[in-house]
Amino acid sequence: MKWIVCKDYQEMSRRAAEMVAQCLREDPNGLYSFPGGDTPLGFVREFVGLVNSGKADIRRASYVSLDEWVGLSSQDSGSCGYFNRQELLDALRVPFAHVHLIDGAAEDIEKERQALDTFIHQYGPLTVSVLGIGLNGHLGFNEEGSSFEGGAQVIPLSSTTKKVMGKYFDRERILTHGITQGIGQIMEAKTVILLANGEHKADIIRRALKGEVTPLVPASILQRHPNAYCILDEAAALEL
Ligand code: PGA
Repeated sequence: MKWIVCKDYQEMSRRAAEMVAQCLREDPNGLYSFPGGDTPLGFVREFVGLVNSGKADIRRASYVSLDEWVGLSSQDSGSCGYFNRQELLDALRVPFAHVHLIDGAAEDIEKERQALDTFIHQYGPLTVSVLGIGLNGHLGFNEEGSSFEGGAQVIPLSSTTKKVMGKYFDRERILTHGITQGIGQIMEAKTVILLANGEHKADIIRRALKGEVTPLVPASILQRHPNAYCILDEAAALEL
């Protein structure tokens, strides 16, 4: 995995958006996937700016969300789908050709898991997978111990994720599982972009980028991806 150290969050966000725009120029019919959360907010806003100013063309491209809290849909504030709608899909002046947002509130979550696999199978494999990294090294909701292979998964939330999840919601939520693209699908992406900012991510970034490749640190598998970039700010790069 190559890494690109940026002076701050703004530069990290801009570099990532420019990289995705370049991939779109090379692969305008591809399948693109972004995460939700704090880390990607600047990146998504930069990306929307590029699309809305005509510098990136998404009209033939497809989009799929990375993950979702089981129990929540895109109507629920704090959900990944809500973030995707508010910050990305509703902000774009032109739409993607095909979009799949995971519905974590679906009555039949197994069917929803299969629907995610079906969409990725139909429009994929992913052209670009943009990812954040959890403090435990998770990718999407692929928590510690997740398989490096395979498609969409429904996974119990780790204690680390449960500890930090309160920051996403304005009221207490009892959530136990996540539904997520599998690491196998992420590894099939032509380009992977891992974003990280802030000193609190420095330790896990060192373990993911320079440590042993192990399911105990899911992001460490990206060391074996042929075209993976970690774009991070100086604080997150402190231990590299
Ligand atoms: P964060 O989450 O952007 O809120 O730090 C990253 C992640 O858990 O993937």
